Amino acid sequence: MNTYNDKLMVVGGNELNGEATIQTSKNAVLPILAGCVLCDKPIVIKNVPNLLDVHNMFNILKGIGVSIDCVDKDCYIDASNITSTTLNQELCKALRSSIFLLGPMLARTRQAVISYPGGCDIGNRPIDLHLSGLEKLGVKIIKRHSLIYCDARNMHSATIQLDFPSVGATENLMMASVFLKGTTRLINVAKEPEIVDLQNFLNSMGCNISGAGSAEITITGVDKLHSTQYMPIGDRIVAGTLMIATAITGGKVALKNTDFKNNQSLIAKLSSVGCQIDIKSDIIYISSKGRLPSVDLIDTQVYPGFPTDMQAQMMSLQAVSDGVSIMCENVFENRYKHAKELIKMGANIILRDRVAVVKGVKELTGAPVDATDLRAGAGLVLAGLKANGYTTVNNAYYIDRGYEQFENLLSSLGANIKRI
Ligand code: EPZ
Repeated sequence: MNTYNDKLMVVGGNELNGEATIQTSKNAVLPILAGCVLCDKPIVIKNVPNLLDVHNMFNILKGIGVSIDCVDKDCYIDASNITSTTLNQELCKALRSSIFLLGPMLARTRQAVISYPGGCDIGNRPIDLHLSGLEKLGVKIIKRHSLIYCDARNMHSATIQLDFPSVGATENLMMASVFLKGTTRLINVAKEPEIVDLQNFLNSMGCNISGAGSAEITITGVDKLHSTQYMPIGDRIVAGTLMIATAITGGKVALKNTDFKNNQSLIAKLSSVGCQIDIKSDIIYISSKGRLPSVDLIDTQVYPGFPTDMQAQMMSLQAVSDGVSIMCENVFENRYKHAKELIKMGANIILRDRVAVVKGVKELTGAPVDATDLRAGAGLVLAGLKANGYTTVNNAYYIDRGYEQFENLLSSLGANIKRI
């Protein structure tokens, strides 16, 4: 799937109406695929989304001997024969979630060589919390020439207090601990729904983990795991992106395969400015008149606060709302690159360090703009849905990392958008 030079061209002005089924969550399926390394029996992961990051994760797994065979969206994964403990450097650099493989690799083979992960350029993306947590579990770590050599022959259970509730570090340490004798306690962990989904997946293979979704997770070591079939949760960020798109364009949309409890912060914000949002089992209904008052303050926080992964999309909505919105990006230190692209379209945005002041304008004008990361790209497409004329979003491959055929999803709801 090489979409390197693709662009998305959007002609603004259409409302969104109809229904869409939300894809499986990128940020749930990636750690779950990494967790397959823990098990020497066949595993089936169902409804795997067709994403660039998933393809890259597949290639990293195949590089260490894991066999993967997908029929439609159901993937048969067999990690019974791990042939290498050195992860492909180039692929690791393409993918932040390659770092999630470290924990399962060490739990299964007690050694690993990995390079510093890549991922969206939204900040330094350090891995100090991952590595210091693994060292507390007794892993010997040597960093040399951009490679990280890990020796886990003396790994043991421990109690670990995370300085920050890092999603990836929580997932890595959960998986590193599943075979350790006794009980490992992780304190001040991330509470994202994807962490709960990972716990449910690991326990479906025979792990003994509890507490995910709270501030403390307990892992009691087990000896063996068994086969499982598992379907990860729907993607709350894709669902939220479509909710914000509908708020921007106006219209009435029903989103299936959702869990409103995973988007309560966004739902509260959109309801507060006049969107009508109703819930019926796993369907979120949203309607909007298409020109809304500004949301006064948007502070991104760790879950269950307002998600940093929805900040760019929300900035596009605020750019065409009535009033002034103050946005503060508290999670990543460099996640406003989309602002200068929105300004090319006529947005009125002032940036000061982590604060963005967004003064709603009457209308945006379509322009050629550059996606600089996954969610920034999605946000620019959303702005193009409303802008006068057409907008070309370059570097569409960023969007393809996390959105499955984004243009088809939006055009199925009435948007005028195509890939060029
Ligand atoms: C996960 O990234 C998600 N990615 C990100 O989604 C999401 O934005 C992020 O969690 C926060 O919710 C995946 O799940 C694949 P973190 P992760 O560790 O694990 C600092 C998207 O758009 N930190 O919670 O990398 C870090 O620099 C992507 O889908 C350390 O300082 O996020 C950041 O400021 C983007 N040291 C903060 O913590 C560490 O060792 C949050 O990072 C680790 C993190």
